[in-house]
Amino acid sequence: MTPSTLLTTLLFLFLLSPPSLTNAVTDPNDLKILQQFRKGLDNPELLPWPDQGGDPCGNPPWKYIFCLNSRVNQIQAKGLNLTGPLPQNFNQLSMLSNLGLQNNRLNGPLPSFKGLSKLQFAFLDNNDFDSIPSDFFDGLESLEALALDHNNLNATTGGWRLPSSLQGSTQLTNFSCMSCNLVGPLPEFLGEMNSLSLLKLSNNNLTGEIPRSLNRSALQVLWLNNQQGERLSGTIDVVSTMVPLSSLWLHGNVFTGSIPENIGDLVSLKDFDLNGNRIVGLVPDALGNMQLDNLDLNNNMLMGPIPNFKASKFSYDNNDFCQSKPGVPCAFEVMALLGFLSGLNYPSNLVDSWKDNDPCGGNWLGIKCDVNGKVSMINLPKFKLNGTLSPSVANLGSLVEIRLGGNNISGGVPSNWTSLTSLKLLDLSDNNISPPLPEFRNGLKPVVVGNHLLDGSPEASSSGNNSPSTGSGNAEPAPAHSSSSDSYETKKSKGKSLAPIVAPIAGVTAAAFLLIPLYAYCFRRRKGGFQAPASLVIHPRDPSDSDNNVKIVVANNTTGSISTLTGSGSGSRNSSGIGESHVIEAGNLKISVQVLRNVTKNFAPENELGHGGFGVVYKGELADGTNIAVKRMEAGVISSKALDEFQAEIAVLSKVRHRHLVSLLGYSIEGNERILVYEYMPQGALSKHLFHWKSFGMEPLSWKRRLNIALDVARGMEYLHTLAHQSFIHRDLKSSNILLADDFRAKVSDFGLVKLAPEGEEKSVVTRLAGTFGYLAPEYAVTGKITTKADVFSFGVVLMELLTGLMALDDDRPEESQYLAAWFWHIKSDKKKLMAAIDPVLDVKEETFESISMIAELAGHCTAREPSQRPDMGHAVNVLAPLVEKWKPFDDDTEEYSGIDYSLPLNQMVKGWQEAEGKDLSYMDLEDSKSSIPARPTGFADSFTSIDGR
Ligand SMILES: *[C@@H]1O[C@H](CO)[C@@H](O)[C@H](O)[C@H]1NC(C)=O
Ligand SMILES: *[C@@H]1O[C@H](CO)[C@@H](O)[C@H](O)[C@H]1NC(C)=O
Ligand SMILES: *[C@@H]1O[C@H](CO)[C@@H](O)[C@H](O)[C@H]1NC(C)=O
Ligand SMILES: *[C@@H]1O[C@H](CO)[C@@H](O)[C@H](O)[C@H]1NC(C)=O
Ligand SMILES: *[C@@H]1O[C@H](CO)[C@@H](O)[C@H](O)[C@H]1NC(C)=O
Repeated sequence: MTPSTLLTTLLFLFLLSPPSLTNAVTDPNDLKILQQFRKGLDNPELLPWPDQGGDPCGNPPWKYIFCLNSRVNQIQAKGLNLTGPLPQNFNQLSMLSNLGLQNNRLNGPLPSFKGLSKLQFAFLDNNDFDSIPSDFFDGLESLEALALDHNNLNATTGGWRLPSSLQGSTQLTNFSCMSCNLVGPLPEFLGEMNSLSLLKLSNNNLTGEIPRSLNRSALQVLWLNNQQGERLSGTIDVVSTMVPLSSLWLHGNVFTGSIPENIGDLVSLKDFDLNGNRIVGLVPDALGNMQLDNLDLNNNMLMGPIPNFKASKFSYDNNDFCQSKPGVPCAFEVMALLGFLSGLNYPSNLVDSWKDNDPCGGNWLGIKCDVNGKVSMINLPKFKLNGTLSPSVANLGSLVEIRLGGNNISGGVPSNWTSLTSLKLLDLSDNNISPPLPEFRNGLKPVVVGNHLLDGSPEASSSGNNSPSTGSGNAEPAPAHSSSSDSYETKKSKGKSLAPIVAPIAGVTAAAFLLIPLYAYCFRRRKGGFQAPASLVIHPRDPSDSDNNVKIVVANNTTGSISTLTGSGSGSRNSSGIGESHVIEAGNLKISVQVLRNVTKNFAPENELGHGGFGVVYKGELADGTNIAVKRMEAGVISSKALDEFQAEIAVLSKVRHRHLVSLLGYSIEGNERILVYEYMPQGALSKHLFHWKSFGMEPLSWKRRLNIALDVARGMEYLHTLAHQSFIHRDLKSSNILLADDFRAKVSDFGLVKLAPEGEEKSVVTRLAGTFGYLAPEYAVTGKITTKADVFSFGVVLMELLTGLMALDDDRPEESQYLAAWFWHIKSDKKKLMAAIDPVLDVKEETFESISMIAELAGHCTAREPSQRPDMGHAVNVLAPLVEKWKPFDDDTEEYSGIDYSLPLNQMVKGWQEAEGKDLSYMDLEDSKSSIPARPTGFADSFTSIDGR
């Protein structure tokens, strides 16, 4: 039997057998509960169901009722003006998956929903329920959306708090509970609910701060506005790490502190409301530049200049700005003094008084001026000031005295304060100043008695490395992702659970999963002469670099010497006149073939690094010793397929920039030559280190390194999927496409198969099958439909490889474990079996095991049969990041991502690599020549095409 006929047969079998639709009458208990519900209503006539008996799941079913296998599966009765209670045994409708009761007048206590493990959607908003039992959320493990808004829950008993059992709803994406009497602080566990993307809790009695755990949360909508009573407080710093946010409503609270400087990281933000808080400080330039639809800053204590806002709608009334018009700068004295305030965390008494644009107007508390109207004294002794001294004070050259004794100021005295040549007195006594004290040229000796860090010899305490803060006291580092995004996945939800549709699909994907080993069987026979793509070499650039000038170092075409080209546009700078170069849309990465010939010794066999999907990869050496990798299409055999791939790769690589994705250094198209140039990745492919470390005489990868690699890959893939300007699908993620730098940090390579993910809701595209066996997602293998979730599947397989040290597919293994993903699924939940499966070179201790189990779980999650059940890569990042963090101390590796400093121009970077580069390990990937599946199984793709009729 050929693979195609085998497949066709199996596919038909699965497609033609729909789920069994029996004619049995409705489950009697379900019937009983529906009748109780109807009878309990004040207006039962609104439900046209029989008074007695009947068959809700019959043919036709009762109005508003939907069934699956004789069980009530959905109740859709919104907006009917139903008045009355829900029966207390409501949770016995145990197959209920979708409940729509919003916009009625249902009243009385909400029954417990405990144990409704199939429930995915529950809309109970806009009713008159008056209490919610504390076990309501227990066991709602399938819940995806829950709305409880506008119910007066537990009002007589002082409100209610979100029970921690809500955490068990790990699929929950949308939770809204506006005006539902929530009290107390926002629970920390919200930060652990990784699937949550919409959280609307407006108009409650919430108190306390935004939980720190929401750091880097994937929320897209966060509404916390208009709390009553004490209201929400604390700073809003954490929100700037929540990169996917598009709507952020914080108005009507008592938030303090300033707007985070890195607010501009929220590239998807459209709607931002801070009205009516106590936000102080300058409006960051970044906020002014954000292209928001709506920005409301009214009624705060913002200071400094009003930016020229780029938002479509904005308002900023009733603040403490120095000017009344946007874009007008403040006096420099004002800016210097606001810098000073910022270092001291904006004490409210000074914020209240330092309002206008004239510190010498007489209103500014603690400021004295000379006869010329210049600031001569800062006089704020014993003002309970804390924080640090700002270097901006050095700009007030007219200062004669600074009196700050008896406060709680810490940090050092900024070194540029020594430029205050008129300064006669600097009183910092009784604070917490740390050394070293700068030397004032005019011999001024600061008064520093009562600063215990300065007592005794200055050397003794000089290790205190308290450099003064220059900013707003906001010490949060910027989040890792700085790239812009407009493609964050929008919310799924509607129509999702119509059972008759779901069931057959589930059947097909299940079938696909079973089929995988068959595919493997069919294609094992074909491998022979194939070799998977070799490791590539990349040149990364800083994605945040707005300057599009690309500097490329190339060897001079005749001498092989180095020159730096600064590209800025399309113009050809092929001064050599050798060959004819064509400018592709990548624009400025063009290199002449002659140059590449020179650096690869005319593509000498000894420079070969490996064979790729469409050609050979050579190592090239520039005159200064810098190594590059040159991927050259096999001469003469330029099929149209290969050409397409070549151009796809250029187009994609020129758009995608991320530190964990390889990017293009240059290319050539001359005559029949198609060549790509990448950075040389000295440690080669991950597969080499996982499966062939012995034969290369290398150390096996430590667990810490594996975690780091997993996180790097997850970040790279997350960027590819959601954070780049467009969404991309890799289609061929595998350990031989993950390359390692000398510090063992990883980058994903080989985008030859990347297809642009389609825009719009249904992110799936039918493509010619490509990819590599063992890593292929079942639905992709069966239907050819690809989504980003197919990459997630492959990522899960890579995780399994990292855990076990076993190749994704290996026919030397016993039958049941040949296909790693299928086998791993069987053993992953059994602690003993999992332990036994872990790569024996890893020294597994109890504490390691904890992170190993989490990775195993993530791997399982990523390889779920149904694409919709796989997480997105952002989730993987969220799971991995804390583990990597935790494992830092266990290894003495440098924390720094040491290889490359992305802020340097390219020529300097190239020098840096050169220095960083150590031994020259072969690029050859033994795995690929031994037992891996061909990278581009042409025969397979073709036969697939035929069965699929496409
Ligand atoms: C809703 O039902 C109540 C009685 O249960 C009735 O008084 C009211 O008029 C109804 N409203 C509408 C819009 O039908
Ligand atoms: C709401 O009030 C009811 C009755 O007073 C109480 O049993 C229940 O635990 C409260 N709900 C929550 C979530 O605290
Ligand atoms: C919420 O706060 C308001 C205003 O302080 C108060 O009147 C109301 O009783 C509070 N509600 C609850 C449920 O605590
Ligand atoms: C600084 O002082 C303010 C006001 O006295 C206080 O609220 C704040 O907690 C202090 N901060 C630190 C870091 O001590
Ligand atoms: C002091 O340092 C700050 C921050 O580095 C800078 O903005 C300011 O211009 C410097 N002032 C002087 C007079 O050197």
